[in-house]
Amino acid sequence: MFRKEGLTLYSLLQVKSGGNIHACMQACRPCSSPATGLISSSIAWRNLREHVDGIFDLHLKDLLQDERRCRDMIKEYDGIVLDYSRQRATSCTFKFLLALAKEAGVKEKIDMMFEGKHINKTEDRAVLHVALRAPRTEKIVCDGKNVVPDVWDVLDKIKCFSERVRSGSWVGQTGKVLKDVVAIGIGGSYLGPLFAYTALQTGAELVQLLANVDPIDVAIALNGLCPETTLVVIVSKTFTTQETMLNAKTMRTWLIASVGKEGIAKHMVAVSTNLKLVKEFGLDPDNAFAFWDWVGGRYSVCSAVGLLPLAIQYGFNKVNQFLEGAWSIDSHFRCAPLEDNIPVILGLISIWNVSFLRCPARAILPYSQALQKLAPHIQQVSMESNGKGVSMDGRPLDFHAGEIDFGEPGTNGQHSFYQLIHQVITAVYSPTHVCEPISNHDELMCNFFAQPDALAYGKTWEQAKAEGISDDLIPHKIFTGNRPSLNILLPTLDAYTLGQLLALYEHRVVVQGFIWGINSFDQWGVELGKSLAGKVRLSMNSVRMKGEELKGYNYSTTYLLNRYLKGKTL
Ligand code: F6P
Repeated sequence: MFRKEGLTLYSLLQVKSGGNIHACMQACRPCSSPATGLISSSIAWRNLREHVDGIFDLHLKDLLQDERRCRDMIKEYDGIVLDYSRQRATSCTFKFLLALAKEAGVKEKIDMMFEGKHINKTEDRAVLHVALRAPRTEKIVCDGKNVVPDVWDVLDKIKCFSERVRSGSWVGQTGKVLKDVVAIGIGGSYLGPLFAYTALQTGAELVQLLANVDPIDVAIALNGLCPETTLVVIVSKTFTTQETMLNAKTMRTWLIASVGKEGIAKHMVAVSTNLKLVKEFGLDPDNAFAFWDWVGGRYSVCSAVGLLPLAIQYGFNKVNQFLEGAWSIDSHFRCAPLEDNIPVILGLISIWNVSFLRCPARAILPYSQALQKLAPHIQQVSMESNGKGVSMDGRPLDFHAGEIDFGEPGTNGQHSFYQLIHQVITAVYSPTHVCEPISNHDELMCNFFAQPDALAYGKTWEQAKAEGISDDLIPHKIFTGNRPSLNILLPTLDAYTLGQLLALYEHRVVVQGFIWGINSFDQWGVELGKSLAGKVRLSMNSVRMKGEELKGYNYSTTYLLNRYLKGKTL
């Protein structure tokens, strides 16, 4: 099923203003602990399963008539407006969902996260990306140590270094001022920084971000750059990721050819948790910006991973504002009651759509071109985190979890995949319309306000007929509507609100994982692909270097690999 962050639905009962909704009248059974260890065996989950049948008969056009319901489904916090009234849900649905959140121990799990407990059990690690944006005076303890001073040591180092690069006092080996910066990374070491960096872009670019090992990408990144005036930032949490390390070696060779080995210290720096490997790569540890294993790759935007490029490009003030925005949401997430807690509500809406309405696809549609990299970043945050088939303790899930995210800036999406959302799929839920209302965005805003209703109401045969549409065209021009969406409105798009938006999405994903009972902080599926690629690499080398026969693969892989190797030698 597809949902639009903001709308979709089936209809059921007539909902009149002030009238009762049948499905909501269902009694909420008292909750008890799940017998099988999966949340799906809890009473709260079963209550929702029974409740959902009633929801399938409801239509959004009816639900939207109930002003009291709509008022209850709009929340505001620190300038952020969330409107989820176009969800296929009644106030009773939210009562059941909140009961589920309590049953799953969401509040307790949030506390454990902020307390530095090792909630990433399969890797035996704490999950403390919130500590990255904590004010200097905060205390956040992990394994008996307050980590906030360490975070601020690195922040101070980023400030100092970025100011030197920006002011021209950090010069290259030949004494020239650095004019270009290339940051190399992949996954969380690329997508998050790219999202934040693009969102704040105003025109002149100093920093470029490079991810792929495709030689074309490296060539494009280096096009027009002079090694004497270029700084390369290697961004890798592990400092072992093949794609990044290959690109890093290419860049190092490119630099050495002009500035010599001794010049590397002026032209190459690293962001990593693995300072030992940084040193072995030949970089001065003084030129390394550390972070910690309690920061997951996809949650690392607020570490030096994202902040170093931001600071070099936009200055450290912006970095501060970005962190303050994220911390504002962190504090809300930690302290607000579940029923008013925006990330918790967002997480519950996802659970409802994915596990109960069976709408696992979600379109993310920012009505702001600056947020063009939001969807790719959230794809990783959400799908790598919650694309799991087993619970934290290894039991196969017996319900749908994880969602399929995609998206484009809003109006681009309208001219692309919206047709399918309007007429074909009911499997997509709520495209999140994220928007910033600033005056010269009126055209964008018109679309922002129009789309959720177009999706919710659709168009009937009678309406089409009344518009004078000929009978043969009417089937093409009618839409059942009832597509759910939710809207997030930002007061403006600046470093502060960008930090808020990032933290909202990060916590939303975490809430989903807390409720589904999965580990949102590991990625063993990705690791499997990495180790298989390692095996192929060894085989390729033996064929190339020693002329050995390829063995150990199925027919298809053997054929393709041989074909590839043959092609290379033709
Ligand atoms: O895609 C898998 C992954 O491990 C991500 O979680 C991570 O963000 C990315 O690879 C890059 O890893 P690293 O920062 O260690 O190079």
